[in-house]
Amino acid sequence: MSELEVNFAGVNLKNPFIVSSSELTNTLERVKLSEKYGASAVSTKLCFLKVPFFARPYHIVEHRAGFFSPSGDRLSIEQAQILIDGIKKETNLVVIANMMGPGDDLNGWGTLAKKLEDAGADMIEMNMSCPNIGLMAKQLHLKSAPELGASLGQNPDLAREVTRATVEAVNIPVIAKMTPEANTPLVAQECAKGGAAAVSAINCPMSLPSVDIYHDGRPIYPGTKNQSFAGLCGPWIRPLAYRHVAQIRMQSPLLPIAGGGGLTNWRHVVEMIMYGSTVVTFCTAIYLKGFEILPEIEKNLLKYMKEMGFSSLEDFRGKALKYIVTPDKVEYIDNVIPQIDEEKCNGCGICTRIGHCPVIILNEKKKIAEVSKPELCYGCGVCYWLCPRKAISMVNAKTKEKIELPNF
Ligand SMILES: Cc1cc2nc3c(=O)[nH]c(=O)nc-3n(C[C@H](O)[C@H](O)[C@H](O)COP(=O)(O)O)c2cc1C
Ligand code: SF4
Ligand code: SF4
Repeated sequence: MSELEVNFAGVNLKNPFIVSSSELTNTLERVKLSEKYGASAVSTKLCFLKVPFFARPYHIVEHRAGFFSPSGDRLSIEQAQILIDGIKKETNLVVIANMMGPGDDLNGWGTLAKKLEDAGADMIEMNMSCPNIGLMAKQLHLKSAPELGASLGQNPDLAREVTRATVEAVNIPVIAKMTPEANTPLVAQECAKGGAAAVSAINCPMSLPSVDIYHDGRPIYPGTKNQSFAGLCGPWIRPLAYRHVAQIRMQSPLLPIAGGGGLTNWRHVVEMIMYGSTVVTFCTAIYLKGFEILPEIEKNLLKYMKEMGFSSLEDFRGKALKYIVTPDKVEYIDNVIPQIDEEKCNGCGICTRIGHCPVIILNEKKKIAEVSKPELCYGCGVCYWLCPRKAISMVNAKTKEKIELPNF
């Protein structure tokens, strides 16, 4: 068995890398790139029995990191069936079929899932998490709007019943995809009660991008006259994804999780697995950097595992969870202060202007930073993270022993 092989809700995957549902997975041509660059599975683009309204993709990337995606063309069931049939015939990928129905049509969920199973899907992914469909209408108080996407996924009881209807209709594992707009540990637990074999977390939170402040506050999407609220994905949501995955894992220790949201490199993969994820998903990173990131991640993950002596993902899964406590249980370490490497410091002064910190000053003579009031330091680490020259180490004030920290 290879080090990266993993069983996800009863389905064997050659590695934990899944390309998540999006325009990366809406044509056979693009899906084949997922296979070419080493993914084990794809979640196909969202499909419906009845596509609710016309939509075409429009996106903004802010600072190469925040990816705003309010829309995308969705598949009809017929298009999804053809796509899945093609993937099964022409690739060895595991196919996860992403689908959605309204909350007032439980039978529809079952019918859709059965059609996708018959087309060859290996797993179903219930999309109760897209922020771009029902959530806005609900939050704008359009009471007549049906529960759809993330608005359905905010309702634990409805999510459970939709899951039950879907699970009863098929013989393949069913995954419930979580919205970060909900109490995810609770929704995940209810979905598991309804028979979900796994959950995926997270889909995008609802957001708004920057606007054109010199033109009446108009949107900055090149191809639209106005805008709806937007799903936010990519690097800006990674810490939010960690939080939801960890919370779900802590609440439901046995429920498999496909963790994703902002994952971009091998370190993020390790972190997500350490927070309890079973497998990992990629979307925006591939939009912004191409499928080529996948083999790079695989190579570096294997290198890391070798270095650490891990022979499987299981060896480090969930390791970070034992350190998560409620705020009242946090244990503080005394006597942690910064130490400045005079050779590396160029006197830029960044660490001397930290709003909450009077500890470091600029030595006017030497033109470098100096720790002048170590007794006022509480070891928060901000100076360490901010120093652009990596000239600051955190040390024990008494022993001068260095505290090992990553430096991104
Ligand atoms: C353009 C675009 C389209 C998406 N379409 C779907 C979809 O059809 N179904 C779905 O469940 N999630 C969809 N998502 C959400 C992603 O699958 C993923 O869960 C989310 O973007 C967070 O991961 P990321 O930060 O790696 O992108 C879409 C995301 C983007 C950017
Ligand atoms: S931020 Fe770093 S380089 Fe700049 S003054 Fe402080 S220690 Fe020196
Ligand atoms: S660790 Fe925090 S409190 Fe201490 S010197 Fe650095 S920024 Fe100031």
